[in-house]
Amino acid sequence: MTSNTNADVRIVATGLYTPPNAISNDELVASFNKYVDEYNAANAADIERGATEPLQKSSAEFVEKASGIKSRYCIDRDGILDTSRMAPRIPERPNGDLAVLSEIAVFAARDAMRAADLKPADIDGVICAASNMQRGYPAVAVEIQDALGIDGFGFDMNVACASAAFGIETGLGLIRAGARRILMVNPEICTAHLNFRDRDSHFIFGDVATAVMLERADGPSKGDAWDILGTKLLTKFSNNIRNNFGFLNHCERETGAAPDAQNDPHTDKLFVQEGRKVFKEVVPMVSECISDHLASVGVAPDAVKRFWLHQANLAMNEFIARKVLGRDANRTEAPVVLDEYANTSAAGSIIAFHKHRSDFAAGDVGVICAFGAGYSAGSVIVRKSA
Ligand code: COA
Repeated sequence: MTSNTNADVRIVATGLYTPPNAISNDELVASFNKYVDEYNAANAADIERGATEPLQKSSAEFVEKASGIKSRYCIDRDGILDTSRMAPRIPERPNGDLAVLSEIAVFAARDAMRAADLKPADIDGVICAASNMQRGYPAVAVEIQDALGIDGFGFDMNVACASAAFGIETGLGLIRAGARRILMVNPEICTAHLNFRDRDSHFIFGDVATAVMLERADGPSKGDAWDILGTKLLTKFSNNIRNNFGFLNHCERETGAAPDAQNDPHTDKLFVQEGRKVFKEVVPMVSECISDHLASVGVAPDAVKRFWLHQANLAMNEFIARKVLGRDANRTEAPVVLDEYANTSAAGSIIAFHKHRSDFAAGDVGVICAFGAGYSAGSVIVRKSA
């Protein structure tokens, strides 16, 4: 679906919350390799007689080369690095306390509200667009709305890593239907759905929250305004990136589902992917999505000053930019934040947009593009307002 809006809706601010803790590749790999040693020692007899495969060590060099990731931020470091656990320690809070996912979204939202000098009364609704909702209901967005003191409404939506682009399109539709301003937030606690015992993927994700403020473009703006020239959304079913966590797991437990080879019954309820297939299939889908979208709004690829792409894998982004431009893009044209943040799912392209846009002059055009599981892709073409 392509929607061209005649620039009647604009982005007026973004916000970012970066957790205070970080884990470097060296630290993460040291913990993984300690786990491997412990596992192989504990299973030495079975490994010796060929009944169990020994686990292989990870390498910081491989991680950086295969993904471009050097570090990641996280809500909790110690639980991830503790080899007896290898999962963040994020205690449940009483129902009366602000949920952790809402809390980080509120930080990002306040950052955006400050940037655009907006009060809660200026905002009509909140969309929480993210990959991993903390609970079924009440919607996390409603809790964020309440914490910020916003009248109106809130709802959650999930299109995995493409959620922010779909959230912008949804906010745009609500504004066209009569709302004045919509706050769209992307809190992502990705470390809670990552299997830190899986060598192929233990390095992929980090935690963060972003926010985007959308408003009707019918008067002067107090913020850093970006006209939305068009949005394009696309999905195509694939099992190659999947997370089976959900409410039916509760029913499944009664069937006595067998634990996996590494004795973790929850592995299937965490992130799994066929990384190579994802790479091969998503690159053409996303590059076509961007190229078709630019053609549909009459913008030549070379006229695009910047591509703020989803941050999953450096080589993937380089391929996508090369396919769209017909040449290599430099880091100014396609900025990278995944070296510092890793993959932050829905938030990645918004972090890139948040951090790399201050050099734009009125009339300059850029593309925010988010993509991921589903498969899903969403492209938003923006132009710096006068
Ligand atoms: N440390 C050291 N070596 C590792 C390793 C690790 N942590 N993980 C895998 N390897 C090894 C493998 O054993 C394999 O060795 P072999 O060639 O001797 O068999 C080799 O590295 C290549 O493994 P492979 O899994 O094929 O790596 P890759 O080059 O495809 O890179 C990804 C893996 C996940 C980084 C890459 O496929 C990717 O990024 N895909 C897209 C993922 C994506 O964007 N997902 C979206 C999520 S929202």
